[in-house]
Amino acid sequence: MTSNPPPQTQPQPHKQKQKQLILNAFAMQSPSHLNPGLHRYPKDQGRNYTSLKHWTQLAQKLEAAKFHAIFFADVLGGYDVYKGPANLEPTIPAGAQFPINDPLYSIPALAAATETISFGVTASTTYDAPYAMARRFSTVDHLSNGRVGWNIVTSYLESAARNFGLDTQVEHDERYRIADEYLDVVYKLWEGSWREGAVNTGGRDGVTGYGYADPKGVRQIHHRGKYFTVPGPHLCEPSVQRTPFLLQAGTSTAGKAFAAKHAEAIFLNGQSPELVRPSVESVREQARALGRDPEAIKIVAGVLVIVGRTDEEARKKFEEYARFGDREGALALFGGWSGYDLSGYDEEQDFRFVEQPAVRSMVNHWASTVPGMEGKKWNKKTIAEYLILGGNGAKIIGGPQTVADELERWVQVADVDGFNLSYASVPETFDDIIEFLVPELQRRGIFHTEYAVPGGTMRENMTGERGQTRLDESHPGAKYVWREGEEVPKYAVQ
Ligand SMILES: Cc1cc2nc3c(=O)[nH]c(=O)nc-3n(C[C@H](O)[C@H](O)[C@H](O)COP(=O)(O)O)c2cc1C
Repeated sequence: MTSNPPPQTQPQPHKQKQKQLILNAFAMQSPSHLNPGLHRYPKDQGRNYTSLKHWTQLAQKLEAAKFHAIFFADVLGGYDVYKGPANLEPTIPAGAQFPINDPLYSIPALAAATETISFGVTASTTYDAPYAMARRFSTVDHLSNGRVGWNIVTSYLESAARNFGLDTQVEHDERYRIADEYLDVVYKLWEGSWREGAVNTGGRDGVTGYGYADPKGVRQIHHRGKYFTVPGPHLCEPSVQRTPFLLQAGTSTAGKAFAAKHAEAIFLNGQSPELVRPSVESVREQARALGRDPEAIKIVAGVLVIVGRTDEEARKKFEEYARFGDREGALALFGGWSGYDLSGYDEEQDFRFVEQPAVRSMVNHWASTVPGMEGKKWNKKTIAEYLILGGNGAKIIGGPQTVADELERWVQVADVDGFNLSYASVPETFDDIIEFLVPELQRRGIFHTEYAVPGGTMRENMTGERGQTRLDESHPGAKYVWREGEEVPKYAVQ
């Protein structure tokens, strides 16, 4: 959940450039993601989320349309704040991100059914040990031939904290300090525990004489920090990417600093490109200050696109979807994202004027930025209707030209590199995007007709650079690389 501050200065459009867009599908292995209740829409297949076929068919369809990736969001608890505490009654009928399966297990099967499309998977640094996490991602990177990415989250649900044995969540900025050390641990495991070339390949066994791998090429990492003690070595031999492609979506000051340091792709939400632009500039500026190439960081905006043959057809479709939305489910999502239970307030309460400062500021921000809501009362009904499709991301509704114009405007004004496309109904939203929008973007020369590296890794295809399979040199994880010929990795030399 995010709310961006209003821009301080009038943004000027960036000079015209033909950026090739990144397009990802933004999904969740749950009956609904950012569309509570839409499993009731007759054509929706959200309730098939437990079927592998549902996901392999979607992956194949998106690959045929040259989508870069499917990005799976994930949470580790239910949205139980609304009408709470600890009450899932409004959430369950809506299928609002509950029940939810762990997306990582499906990735090898999705990879086996496809050649090039990649898979971003959300996993939390707050609740999962780095040693185990590193192993799971290495395994999937092996089995997908380098097509997995990790969306690094620090988590935000109290219900997750309680179920992992805590009384309450670890404090917000402390979660990011833990995450920062966590990343050091996994970089050491992925990059610095197995020397390049340590594993004998192609029958070199007999030639080198040291068997499966050189025992001197596998070392303990001896990590002893404030939060973690991990001796190593890494349990898995090096996978294709070693470090999976790194994505992140924090929007607070600590979240942006973390992203500027670690992320290779950053995911931002906001109502308009004018509002997202300061966040893009701030992250790129911080990355530059850390010695990273700011343009190498891919910025991807979350949007809901409803496209039809014409503007009118798209608008009607949106209204039809909205009829199936579950308002209680939307308020439950709000409760989980914000931590505030709106159920105690009167139906007519306008939250622009409520006493609770965090809610007031969030709602005032929406009131001043959500298009078409001028003069509207922001009561529970309005909040629910606003969040019911596409959550807090921008919604772009129209015929192919209207939508393509608006996406181009996002690129020019906010300097984003692409979009995470959420759905109102799965797979119909993607079917429409593939039928109506993708050809228009290709006609304009802003979306590829073939992958940069067919059969390549996630990092190669997200950066568009053949051979860019490993972390780039300016990334902080690169300092842990253990190169061939080195007795120990450079970082470990005292
Ligand atoms: C577009 C977007 C998508 C996100 N997806 C997830 C997710 O799938 N799982 C999760 O636990 N957090 C998710 N988050 C939450 C963030 O990773 C982060 O934990 C949250 O925004 C709190 O950090 P912050 O205060 O730095 O923003 C998402 C945030 C944004 C903006």
